[in-house]
Amino acid sequence: MPPKLYVDAPPNGDFRAMPARGGGYATLKWVTSYPGNPARGLPVVTGALLVSDDETGELLAILDCAAVTSLRTGAAAAVSALALGRDGAATAGIVGCGVNGSSAARCLAAVGYREGVCADVRPEAAEALAAELGWSTGPLAAALACDVVVTVTPGSEPVIDAPDLAAGRHLAVLGADGHGKAELTAAALDRCRLFCDQWEQASTGGELAGAVAAGTVTRDDVTDIGAVLAGEVPGRRSLDEVTLFDSTGLAIQDLGIAIAVVEAWRAGEVSATEIAL
Ligand SMILES: NC(=O)c1ccc[n+]([C@@H]2O[C@H](COP(=O)([O-])OP(=O)(O)OC[C@H]3O[C@@H](n4cnc5c(N)ncnc54)[C@H](O)[C@@H]3O)[C@@H](O)[C@H]2O)c1
Repeated sequence: MPPKLYVDAPPNGDFRAMPARGGGYATLKWVTSYPGNPARGLPVVTGALLVSDDETGELLAILDCAAVTSLRTGAAAAVSALALGRDGAATAGIVGCGVNGSSAARCLAAVGYREGVCADVRPEAAEALAAELGWSTGPLAAALACDVVVTVTPGSEPVIDAPDLAAGRHLAVLGADGHGKAELTAAALDRCRLFCDQWEQASTGGELAGAVAAGTVTRDDVTDIGAVLAGEVPGRRSLDEVTLFDSTGLAIQDLGIAIAVVEAWRAGEVSATEIAL
């Protein structure tokens, strides 16, 4: 899986090309992050995922990438909470309750988070998500007071500052997945023990990119969550530590979902429109 390639498209946002290969398949996701799209009645994340047979190169399927992206984005946040949250963590705060924040909340609920606080500058978005999951709505401070906090805002301005961070918190920061975006202030980032999904992406186009460019965060300061999941390195070291997972979104995660979809289609479990090219 090479790092994703960005094609900046100012002032609208950017396109990304995300290739990966494995498990008998190869995929390419062509996808946007267009933060102003909701005002046009369109999603921020839009595009298609091509699925090819690794053996023959044959194109097998074209999937809408919105559902694929939100499933794997939400799942990554929940996996990070399981891996890095402190023992006894029970409450989840969601900051930014749009498409991908909602998916993160659903995934946290699916792994056992029964209580959560939904915060959004659009109260109706927070209310809809809270009603769906039986959680509550609240101001930003109430969401930040939860044991696990997931941020999925457009990343145009920080939503977490150092005084917001109580000991033992786990943060999954998802919104800042492109150039110039950040959801934490530099002082807040400084308080956290840092984890990422992939260094090449996180250091150039993720939450950590600004601090890497400024020289305040280096490769040695950041642990790959994959190494924690594989049991190669420890995750959280104490109850008090504030852990931060910078999730930039990996093509390999999209590949995993695509394989599940294509194999479900082959097994007759899901239907699809068939076209001859
Ligand atoms: N890391 C990843 O893997 C990944 C995957 C998908 C999307 N993203 C990124 O996540 C961001 C959001 O994407 P989306 O598809 O969920 O968009 P969306 O527009 O559906 O949701 C964003 C939500 O954030 C809310 N919001 C904006 N400013 C806020 C603030 N200051 N405080 C609280 N809430 C605020 C908006 O009202 C909206 O409900 C984008 O930057 C996108 O590129 C990252």
